[in-house]
Amino acid sequence: MLKSHLKSKRELIDSKIEFYLNKLEYPSIIAEGMRYSVLNGGKRLRPILLLMVLELYGKDLKLGIPSAVAIELIHSYSLVHDDLPALDNDDYRRGKLTTHKKFGEAEAILIGDALLTHSFSIVADETEEVSAEKLLKIIGMISRYAGINGMIGGQMVDIQSEKKKVSLETLEYIHTNKTGKLLKLPVEIGAIISDATKEEYEALEKYSELIGLAFQIKDDILDIEGDFEKIGKPVGSDLELEKTTYPSLFGLEKSKEILKEVVQNAKKALEVFEKEKITMFIELADYIAFREN
Ligand code: IPE
Ligand code: IPE
Ligand code: MG
Ligand code: MG
Ligand code: MG
Repeated sequence: MLKSHLKSKRELIDSKIEFYLNKLEYPSIIAEGMRYSVLNGGKRLRPILLLMVLELYGKDLKLGIPSAVAIELIHSYSLVHDDLPALDNDDYRRGKLTTHKKFGEAEAILIGDALLTHSFSIVADETEEVSAEKLLKIIGMISRYAGINGMIGGQMVDIQSEKKKVSLETLEYIHTNKTGKLLKLPVEIGAIISDATKEEYEALEKYSELIGLAFQIKDDILDIEGDFEKIGKPVGSDLELEKTTYPSLFGLEKSKEILKEVVQNAKKALEVFEKEKITMFIELADYIAFREN
């Protein structure tokens, strides 16, 4: 059930991303590089989460499509820059050469910048039937969660923590920000568009924070025991760079136990909703913990 849901949503998202990115032409290396970096088989989990929240409230998906596409563009930009020689220095992403390997380093920096900045114009120019007040809130939130108080903050501390044994508190800061914020973002935007009650909003927020943490713990585990053919990116990258991860701090087995517990708590967070309405969210939490890619 979840599998076919993910597939149909992924196809919808892919077609919308294509529609927006195909409008871009010049300079062709940037336009091509943007398409190369996004239209390459990502799981599309972040946009799917936004659409799932809209579905939970019976809303028209078109209300959230531009925001969903924007978040995927920002996520993809974060990967383009994350793979650069100055950061994680990885050669493969989503089973293909990384953007800097394909287009050059200066180009990859600019392609990433273009993805980030263009995403804001998609939200501002393409969203229909969402009030200006809500839209302003959404745009502010995207900017906050992507920047110093979100993904960038997490990425910086991730790099500063290489070759060091840091505290659990610091590791939690890294995971919550570098990965958690871009997973929390679509859930909150979905809740804003859908006029969730305060109680529901907080439940969804909690759920998204916990699946965000689970997502990165699993990513750390896959970096050790994943299969390159499946994850599409190098195995052992964290070990090579001596990154602080859950496995480096707790070992593999304990990390798996923590992962299970986090996922259980994520499911519990949604108890305020009727059980039949949230099956997909429950299945998604399990998928995040037990995925192979
Ligand atoms: C990879 O994200 C980077 C992390 C935040 C762990 P995903 O695993 O969602 O990557 P894609 O989008 O499916 O390639
Ligand atoms: C990066 O975490 C998360 C981002 C903000 C891009 P990782 O460095 O672990 O992501 P992967 O393993 O390269 O996808
Ligand atoms: Mg990294
Ligand atoms: Mg990396
Ligand atoms: Mg990783």
